[in-house]
Amino acid sequence: MALPRIFSCSLRLHPMKETLRYLAGVAGPSGFGSNSTAEQVTEDCSCLLSSHITAIITGATSGIGAETARVLAKRGVRLVIPARDLKRAAEVKEMIQKETPQAEIILLEIDLSSFASIKRFCSEFLSLGLPLNILINNAGKFSQNLEFSEEKIEMTFATNYLGHFLLTEMLLEKMIQTAAQTGIEGRIVNVSSVIHSWVKTDGFSFNHMLNPKNYNGTRSYAQSKLANILHAKEVARRLKVRNARVTINAVHPGVVKTGIIRDHKGFITDSLFFLASKLLKSTSQGAATTCYVALSPRTNGVSGKYFADCNESSCSVLAKDESEARKLWKQTCALIHRRLCQSTS
Ligand SMILES: NC(=O)c1ccc[n+]([C@@H]2O[C@H](COP(=O)([O-])OP(=O)(O)OC[C@H]3O[C@@H](n4cnc5c(N)ncnc54)[C@H](OP(=O)(O)O)[C@@H]3O)[C@@H](O)[C@H]2O)c1
Repeated sequence: MALPRIFSCSLRLHPMKETLRYLAGVAGPSGFGSNSTAEQVTEDCSCLLSSHITAIITGATSGIGAETARVLAKRGVRLVIPARDLKRAAEVKEMIQKETPQAEIILLEIDLSSFASIKRFCSEFLSLGLPLNILINNAGKFSQNLEFSEEKIEMTFATNYLGHFLLTEMLLEKMIQTAAQTGIEGRIVNVSSVIHSWVKTDGFSFNHMLNPKNYNGTRSYAQSKLANILHAKEVARRLKVRNARVTINAVHPGVVKTGIIRDHKGFITDSLFFLASKLLKSTSQGAATTCYVALSPRTNGVSGKYFADCNESSCSVLAKDESEARKLWKQTCALIHRRLCQSTS
């Protein structure tokens, strides 16, 4: 079962001393810790108000993404919210503008599990002629049962990893161009999870992830989150080679009771959340690491890293494996190229 593993995984990765630090919210080298909220970590970022920063945040219709959007808007960032449910996105927009009436928020449709929908979103966004400074790849799915996307790819992997990979590819030149024209560093944040560390090398086969045998929802979710980190590492390496002023990092937001577990509601889940409530973050604490990495002047020039509790942190050995990152990048490009060619022929 997924949830007990999420909690035990959090504990395993936090040995006793670190668990106490986590529970006490002791600040790390950044000056922030597990208790810090998205508002606190961006307090010194209001200077952005005059810079006309534009950010795309996926999955901003609920949970951590909606809180990230609220705080970025409060700091003066123009938001583009791609959503599959535009009604829900309009409610989030209204909620944000109630607090920040001058917030500029553009809503566009996207389904991250569909390559065609991602292409449509990107061409609509690019036709607006806006700059793009920040891309937050936050949307996430945790599918308990085996489901397939339009392209007949396992749904969790398609949404969490492949969709964000294609989105990033299609927007990267725009971000590099914006950074060069404005002199403001572009930033990409991949929202991953500590759960990535369960995946071992023999459990990370590209073809099996596309079409798993003996489906296990937790395994697929963990694989997609590992892929999010490897993606950040490889794109960071490529951006460095190009000398581009765009960074990309991965974050673990912490464990937050959000819609991501909506398939898992019930007495056992609720009881577990109750028992583990000391380990849970509030949504605003859950959005803090993303907001810190996306906005803080303290993360200037930092790229290809993994953050948790608003500090640079250590990811698994496999997530640090550069050859694995390169291999995954090549396999993904080949797959996307094949599927996009098929759809136009
Ligand atoms: N909550 C945690 O404890 C936790 C822990 C570690 C990592 N994370 C990560 O944090 C991120 C945010 O999760 P959350 O906890 O805030 O979950 P959430 O409340 O369920 O939010 C997920 C968001 O993703 C969107 N989404 C899902 N499938 C999509 C698709 N095919 N196309 C477009 N949007 C899609 C959802 O939109 P709809 O409104 O259309 O469903 C929703 O806005 C995820 O990447 C998750 O893996 C969460």
